[in-house]
Amino acid sequence: MPSYAITGAARGLGYEFVNQLSSEAANTVFALVRSASTATKVQTLAGERKNIHIVQCDVTKPDEVIAAAEKIATLSEGSLDVLVHNAVAMDMDTMGMPPSAFVAEKAEMAVSAMDKAFSTSLYGALWITNALIPLIEKSQQRKIIHISTGMADPDLIKTTGISYAVPYVVSKAAMNMLVAKYAAELKDKGIKVLALSPGWVDTADMTGPPPQEMLDAFQLMLSQFQKVKPDLAGPITPEESVRMQLDVIRDLDEKTSGTFVSHHGDQNWF
Ligand SMILES: NC(=O)c1ccc[n+]([C@@H]2O[C@H](COP(=O)([O-])OP(=O)(O)OC[C@H]3O[C@@H](n4cnc5c(N)ncnc54)[C@H](OP(=O)(O)O)[C@@H]3O)[C@@H](O)[C@H]2O)c1
Repeated sequence: MPSYAITGAARGLGYEFVNQLSSEAANTVFALVRSASTATKVQTLAGERKNIHIVQCDVTKPDEVIAAAEKIATLSEGSLDVLVHNAVAMDMDTMGMPPSAFVAEKAEMAVSAMDKAFSTSLYGALWITNALIPLIEKSQQRKIIHISTGMADPDLIKTTGISYAVPYVVSKAAMNMLVAKYAAELKDKGIKVLALSPGWVDTADMTGPPPQEMLDAFQLMLSQFQKVKPDLAGPITPEESVRMQLDVIRDLDEKTSGTFVSHHGDQNWF
């Protein structure tokens, strides 16, 4: 009975991980959500599938992380096969700014934006990973996945010229380094660790037409990404991304542990 814990499972890719993994009755899926009371979509799915367990877990809150690990341990008899740390907090106010905008005169704004990004990509990554290592160690598969972004590849930045998304990308670069460190530490325990980029994925839950600002940002990003992949038409669906990511996770072994790859299993980020 393989077991999976997914952080940030309320919506977007986290929800889709829960959806695809729980469609196999033999899997046990722990859907870790920042706010159980507002995670209605995944709560509905859990009402239909007995193999989903909703677990309250804001990954930035150490007490909640510890309580979540205890709950998972109780429900899974002390073992967990795969952790997918997918949760992300993004500071949209500074998303369009290049590094030179983070000046000393606006230090408070800069620190707040960095803190927000690091709260999930670094601190949250540490808290949830460390709380679950004892369970993962006792499992068959022994895998830890951190969802990163191809935007944190220096070659991609150089080719596209993308200078914005600084706190987000810097925090994901830190996450990639954390993955390499964990892989080195946990090798002897047979635990494999991976930084995995999901590709460019449409996870916007839009109810009405997108605002012009969003359309402009989309066009800019598309034209920049096309410098890497000229025939890129747009983002892929969560369904396609998660299906491909699960193949990469399945193939993760000691040789690839510690690396930073895309949903293709290589450095092809789109
Ligand atoms: N979409 C893309 O194109 C893309 C590209 C590259 C990388 N990624 C990465 O893929 C992952 C998922 O992206 P996405 O597009 O699905 O994001 P998303 O739609 O914005 O969803 C983010 C999820 O993280 C949760 N979250 C935020 N702060 C949290 C916290 N402190 N503790 C626990 N959960 C928290 C949110 O919960 P609430 O619903 O409660 O707010 C939400 O469920 C992220 O790591 C992202 O960086 C995405």
